[in-house]
Amino acid sequence: MRELSDCEKSLAARQGRKTVQLSNLITSLPPYHFADAKKKIADRIAAGVDVISLSMGDPDLPAPQAVIERLCAEMQKTENHRYPEYRGMYALHEAIAQWFEQRFQVRLQPERDILPLLGSKEGLAYAGASVLNAGDIALVPDPYYPVYITAGTTVGAQPYLLPLDAEHGYLPDLDRIPADVLAKARVLWLNYPNNPTAACADRAFFERAVAFAHQHNLVIIHDMAYAEVYFGAFRPMSILQIPGASEVAVELHSLSKTYNMAGFRVGMLVGNPALVDAVGRLKSNIDSGMFRPVQYAAIEALNLPASWIRERNALYQKRRDMLVKGCNAIGMPTEAPNAGLYVWAHVPQGFTSRDFATWLFDKTGVFVTPGTNFGAAGEGYVRISMTAPDERIATALQRMQEVFHL
Ligand SMILES: Cc1ncc(COP(=O)(O)O)c(C=O)c1O
Repeated sequence: MRELSDCEKSLAARQGRKTVQLSNLITSLPPYHFADAKKKIADRIAAGVDVISLSMGDPDLPAPQAVIERLCAEMQKTENHRYPEYRGMYALHEAIAQWFEQRFQVRLQPERDILPLLGSKEGLAYAGASVLNAGDIALVPDPYYPVYITAGTTVGAQPYLLPLDAEHGYLPDLDRIPADVLAKARVLWLNYPNNPTAACADRAFFERAVAFAHQHNLVIIHDMAYAEVYFGAFRPMSILQIPGASEVAVELHSLSKTYNMAGFRVGMLVGNPALVDAVGRLKSNIDSGMFRPVQYAAIEALNLPASWIRERNALYQKRRDMLVKGCNAIGMPTEAPNAGLYVWAHVPQGFTSRDFATWLFDKTGVFVTPGTNFGAAGEGYVRISMTAPDERIATALQRMQEVFHL
């Protein structure tokens, strides 16, 4: 029998009752960073601190009015209160296919190539679990969105980290993966526009990745949660625009950042039909689909004109420019990203990422995320989110200037 951990024993002692024995899976899972972060922020606010959180990528701007109205109208219809379709309404599949074709000029078959999700996060976990077995290797770029690791470790697979650095445009060097690792690798995770570095990949990289996946029998899971937050003339591309990609790749999209709908929980998995079907099978054994009014609201969002995205992105661009200018002025060098919700800035000299984030929070109430929360390769950086009102960003930068005596 497994020994109880210290934490389990002390909990049992405090509660004076028998402890439930948790699985190895649960005891091996780290606490989710942003759940911890939310608690820290709440504690500090309760202590009277005026906290400015530039931590999570949780859009502060409202969801489109048409989306809110459609949700309310569909809520009134009692037939929508019943169990929804396991794999989503056909109308939602169709709206996603149309949106995808307009945005990326790729025609998807609505039922075969598309699966609506309760946010893209669950899709990442299920896509990993649908391909990986115990003993397999998942190729994970570092820094990474934490789910890429847990998607593998929960099924007994191991991550092999591919360090990303500024010098190589935060693209993994596929040629440096050892042959014995490649022999066991089943999945290559990619994420562009990238969280946390905000880097974007070009066509040449995606072509190389697709060819590499064909050559080494890998599945690419491309996380494109930030597809629709871009600046100027730049447009991030889909991996499915590369010929042959749908034979080896799936891609995840999300309405969370795209339409400021993070709380609605709408995402989608598109691409390789066998993997789309597998995730649908796994999901229908676990959840019972997306509330129909939310599906109608999602259709409404996907039918909005492109001008809605352009106007919203102009608001983010202003914030990006404030943050980039402010960080550079206080000795935290950074470049203006082309896409995404984050500024990836060097920490001032003499600090580690974690020490700086803690010091800054203590001194100013400004909460940013240490780069190392996304893996060891994030050392030396912090991630600063644009999801706070302009005036709060201005105040945060002013407080930062003050502690640096500028
Ligand atoms: C890279 C990346 N992928 C996926 C997600 C999950 O988004 P959602 O589940 O809201 O669609 C996030 C959220 O922050 C993210 O940063």
